[in-house]
Amino acid sequence: MSVISAITSSVSARTKADFAGLKDWHYLDTAATAQKPQVVLDAMLRAGGADYATVHRGVYARSANMTLAFEAARAKVAAFIGGLEAEIVFTRGATEAINLVAQTWGQSNLKAGDRILLSVLEHHSNIVPWQLLRDRTGVEIDVCPLTEDGQIDLDAAEAMLTPAHKLVAFAHVSNVLGSTLDAARAADLAHAVGAKLLLDGCQAVPRLIVDVAALDCDFYVFSAHKLYGPTGIGALWARAEILEAMPPWHGGGAMIDRVTFERTTYAAPPQRFEAGTPAIIEAIGLGAAVDYVSAVGLPAIHAHEVALVATLREELRKLNSIMLFGPEESAGIVSFALDGVHPHDLGTILDEEGVAIRAGHHCAQPLMDHLGVPATARASFGLYSDENDIAALLRGIERTKRIFA
Ligand SMILES: Cc1ncc(COP(=O)(O)O)c(C=O)c1O
Repeated sequence: MSVISAITSSVSARTKADFAGLKDWHYLDTAATAQKPQVVLDAMLRAGGADYATVHRGVYARSANMTLAFEAARAKVAAFIGGLEAEIVFTRGATEAINLVAQTWGQSNLKAGDRILLSVLEHHSNIVPWQLLRDRTGVEIDVCPLTEDGQIDLDAAEAMLTPAHKLVAFAHVSNVLGSTLDAARAADLAHAVGAKLLLDGCQAVPRLIVDVAALDCDFYVFSAHKLYGPTGIGALWARAEILEAMPPWHGGGAMIDRVTFERTTYAAPPQRFEAGTPAIIEAIGLGAAVDYVSAVGLPAIHAHEVALVATLREELRKLNSIMLFGPEESAGIVSFALDGVHPHDLGTILDEEGVAIRAGHHCAQPLMDHLGVPATARASFGLYSDENDIAALLRGIERTKRIFA
């Protein structure tokens, strides 16, 4: 344990007490959803209580104030990822954001014979929306292979890309392997053939500084609940000129300019893509989460998680009965298999020990097929994770080994 206790975990020491949900619980499933700090819960309680009113419509002061708070949350998200406010569309999450792009930009720009490049490690939410589009339009989907250590193989992508490719859609950070894409190179490769680049940033925004301008991508999506914010909200960022040219997808209130029975004209982005009363309380919660993560500091969070990953991988290797997946420099996520034990059995025994890991296909069945396993065990860290969580996990694995011996 000496290596583990040597970790300087100032980030978790500073933050753990902010999370009511973590008492006596070793939560290693942050890649599925992050625990929420008290400031986020408080902000949402205020927004839904003392401050509550609708947005964009009310002529009374409370509604005007709530509109300001709601739009301030959008401004925070924009600043957090380096975009403009008008380029941030609130969605229910990353899944809805990708479906939005597929059904609006994809449906109106792609036709039979056009191609989309995905990768083997994509989450189902960056596969199925494109398959639905394929079924409607006849576009073709190509799949970029991985390098041996589980990175999207950009040399292979370069060789595969042709002028028929109109979109490259890759995970910025893999939710299974923790591998981080060289997003700027992916953008260069996509743009060299005239394709757009969509980045699935679900696992990147909680741990890496994201600057969409520097990455030079065209679409960026993420979910708030993985960023220590609430469920039910996320964001799509797209370049202003792309958003402006995209037709609406959901019709209703708030997304219109003028409605008559003969003809409706639409609002400018982002409102064009936000039909109906929005997730007001959740947006405020997302804004609070952005403030919280920014105050802790992404470089500190990333360094903290990198140290935890290095320690866990080293300790798991010592057990001699573990297969480790993914690259050594994984971003906060360690997938592994324990010889002779199904990940679900491991997860169940660990739960008895107060340790929560994820066991399953992680919504990445094509990646499981590629790895040749039905499932993996996945320990994923957050800013509150610490050496005690690793120690508890290792104790639980030892106990599992004894049970199965
Ligand atoms: C890489 C990645 N993409 C997409 C998603 C989907 O996110 P959500 O279910 O919040 O829409 C997840 C969630 O696990 C993810 O990890």
